[in-house]
Amino acid sequence: MHLSLLEPLGRHAPLPVIARRPAQLVGNTPILWIDEPFAPPGRGFHAKLEGANPGGIKDRPGLHMVAEARQRGDLAPGAPVVESSSGTLGLGLALAGLTYGHPVTVVTDPGMEPSVVRLLTALGARVDQVAAPHPEGGWQEARRARVAEWLSRTPGAYCPDQYHNPDNAAAYRPLAAELVAQLGRVDVLVAAVGTGGHSAGVAAGLRESLPGLRLIGVDAVGSAIFGQPAGPRLMRGLGSSIHPGNVDYAAFAEVHWVAPAEAVWACRRLARHHYASGGWSVGAVALVAGWAARTMPAGTRIVAVFPDGPHRYLETVYNDAWCREHGFLGRVPAEEPDEIAEPDARVVTSWTRCGRVRDPLGRDLAEAGAR
Ligand SMILES: Cc1ncc(COP(=O)(O)O)c(C=O)c1O
Repeated sequence: MHLSLLEPLGRHAPLPVIARRPAQLVGNTPILWIDEPFAPPGRGFHAKLEGANPGGIKDRPGLHMVAEARQRGDLAPGAPVVESSSGTLGLGLALAGLTYGHPVTVVTDPGMEPSVVRLLTALGARVDQVAAPHPEGGWQEARRARVAEWLSRTPGAYCPDQYHNPDNAAAYRPLAAELVAQLGRVDVLVAAVGTGGHSAGVAAGLRESLPGLRLIGVDAVGSAIFGQPAGPRLMRGLGSSIHPGNVDYAAFAEVHWVAPAEAVWACRRLARHHYASGGWSVGAVALVAGWAARTMPAGTRIVAVFPDGPHRYLETVYNDAWCREHGFLGRVPAEEPDEIAEPDARVVTSWTRCGRVRDPLGRDLAEAGAR
């Protein structure tokens, strides 16, 4: 069926669900085709709009990790849930707390946008912001230590530990099934990496029926995940100063590191040309997916996961004064990424690609040796 550009899809699409509970609104997110100016006419990629979930992409693992912990008996009825989050999982856990009846505490740092603090509070979560970074481990370690404090002084409290909990990755199996149902075939998946959960879970789900899938990871400059030294990071969501157990290193064909100015440029371009946009990870993923659409053979079906929408970034990514102060305005990214042969060949400070991916801690080799 041919749809005119001006014809609303709603006339042909099934009607949206009528939910009895907000958790029923999670999943079955739409896809938007993104073409020019990211790719030449006729080329483009499919953006899976996870910002269409009530909270964002992490509604999926928020609900799933809590449900599984209850099932196993790790989380007793009514017991508190405590987790470190830069925001998105906090929203998912607030939804899980409301759904299953648990008080939720989100441990974060001063980098959490004030609007997100207010939103989490309005949704019933307690927000605990650490005041200072850990001398060696930075903000992430300071948050981890605060979660440990909460757990030791709150009987029955449960921490889902999104970095290492396999239920985080498993929560994305339905997202893979949605992509297969929506698109039939996916050749390339472009995904941001923070805990590693959605890249691992979606790729594993897709590979059950599409074994040839190529997974492209998108990380932040200054992130330690793929073997670069940990450095200052301004972008939230993607990147980490630790090596999360949920990152499925063997699943990736390549990794790209993206700098904040490049993500800002892509976010603003998306908003201007496609209306749908998002935050740091959306910009970074769109930059890389656009490159893939330009450089891979015509007809390659590329999917990029957009984890959230633009609203919480109005005071950063979309604020001219803030961006100018940080030197992020008017900086157009290169057409192509720089290349490095090994992930630790040199410290990268702008968009860079590496075709070799390995676990910097050698856990993949240790596992292979044990087999
Ligand atoms: C907005 C956003 N994008 C991307 C990610 C990275 O996703 P994952 O933790 O599944 O690797 C996160 C994780 O918190 C996020 O909040």
